[in-house]
Amino acid sequence: MEIRPYSDSDEAAVAKLWREVFPEAPSWNLPETDIRRKRAIQPELFLVATSDSSIVGTAMAGYDGHRGWVYYVAVSPKHRRQGIGSTLMKRVEQDLAELGCPKLNLQVRTENEEVVAFYKKLGYTVEERVSMGKHLERSNGS
Ligand SMILES: CC(C)(COP(=O)(O)OP(=O)(O)OC[C@H]1O[C@@H](n2cnc3c(N)ncnc32)[C@H](O)[C@@H]1OP(=O)(O)O)[C@@H](O)C(=O)NCCC(=O)NCCS
Repeated sequence: MEIRPYSDSDEAAVAKLWREVFPEAPSWNLPETDIRRKRAIQPELFLVATSDSSIVGTAMAGYDGHRGWVYYVAVSPKHRRQGIGSTLMKRVEQDLAELGCPKLNLQVRTENEEVVAFYKKLGYTVEERVSMGKHLERSNGS
């Protein structure tokens, strides 16, 4: 298993993995659109895990100068419980720490207890917060 930055030739395989792992993703989270946006901002923090040259996992991170965030932590169902998710997260933590990032945040759906167990094993704690968000219009009209 190898962890490396995403490359453009990975798009179809990553999109297929996300459609399998996140079947209930909202319609505005189109994999191809999210991938292309990430290619424009800190693309080096978009990682894939490969096994025998196939994509088996992903993690998409960012650092805004105050906190790091991670999204799309996903491992192919056939390759779970082999340490791939943990290895991806440790690489994300290392990359963010090297940028001077002091803290990493992430969001998990409340009902997703298995994923909470995964992050707790990695040392993350549940922080009582209300998660808020707003979809933004593009100001240039494009
Ligand atoms: C969460 C996920 C990335 C974990 O990937 P993984 O490669 O299987 O994780 P690891 O093998 O590194 O697991 C490390 C430890 O986390 C815990 N863990 C992982 N999956 C777990 C599960 N389903 N139930 C309970 N604990 C779990 C275990 O303690 C495990 O150690 P062990 O296998 O020695 O018991 C993977 O299950 C996944 O892709 N889930 C669906 C996508 C998702 O919801 N992602 C999170 C978005 S925020």
